[in-house]
Amino acid sequence: MRIAAVADLHYTPQTYDKIREQMLRVRDDADVLVLAGDLTNYGRVAEMDSLLTMLVRLRIPIVAVLGNHDFESGQQDELMRLMSAEGIKVLDGTGYERDGVGFAGTKGFPGGFGRGMLTAFGEPEVKAFVQTSIGEGLKLERAMAQLRTERRVVVVHYAPIGETVKGEPLEIYPYLGNSRLAEVVDRQGANLVLHGHAHHGSPDGKTTGGVPVHNVALSILKASGVSTPYRLFDV
Ligand SMILES: [Fe+2]
Ligand SMILES: [Fe+2]
Repeated sequence: MRIAAVADLHYTPQTYDKIREQMLRVRDDADVLVLAGDLTNYGRVAEMDSLLTMLVRLRIPIVAVLGNHDFESGQQDELMRLMSAEGIKVLDGTGYERDGVGFAGTKGFPGGFGRGMLTAFGEPEVKAFVQTSIGEGLKLERAMAQLRTERRVVVVHYAPIGETVKGEPLEIYPYLGNSRLAEVVDRQGANLVLHGHAHHGSPDGKTTGGVPVHNVALSILKASGVSTPYRLFDV
């Protein structure tokens, strides 16, 4: 299976004008399009409506997770409903199998990497924050455990490893993702992990267990010289 992947479209009709022509050819290049979150800028229904009008024209199966921007207006449930109604597989702690390849996904959450990971200690607000991070890890674990396929692709918005956020200011690393997601990936096993969110991060990395991780934020694809508004992967 050939997968085309991109994250952080932050869709507006104006920005999309620049990539429209190339995007229309995605169907010739890939079997499935993966959108790894931040589809919209402010998570408004009007933005999603406009984006969906464009996405259905691509006539390619689409697998997606939401990003933090898609939560900004508190309309995330409605956005997911609209996407599902157009046949898009929105992964929210869920799995999806297609042509022998399993997709598992969730949004993820901040929390930090490795020894810098925030722990549930002290104030209730800190504990609630960490609990949300742990909860997203559990959602991913549940989604991956559902899959019965040998080949597996994980889709998250937040970064599961620090390697693919390199390039961002060190001070904001903890807000860009958390290692619990990678621990789940290594426990469950996967062929490929796709994420976004770190617009100025690095394209390629690996989990401790050796699973390839790629940051497919649109800005990174542009910076790394990929000639299409998506990057292709074979699984
Ligand atoms: Fe983004
Ligand atoms: Fe984001």
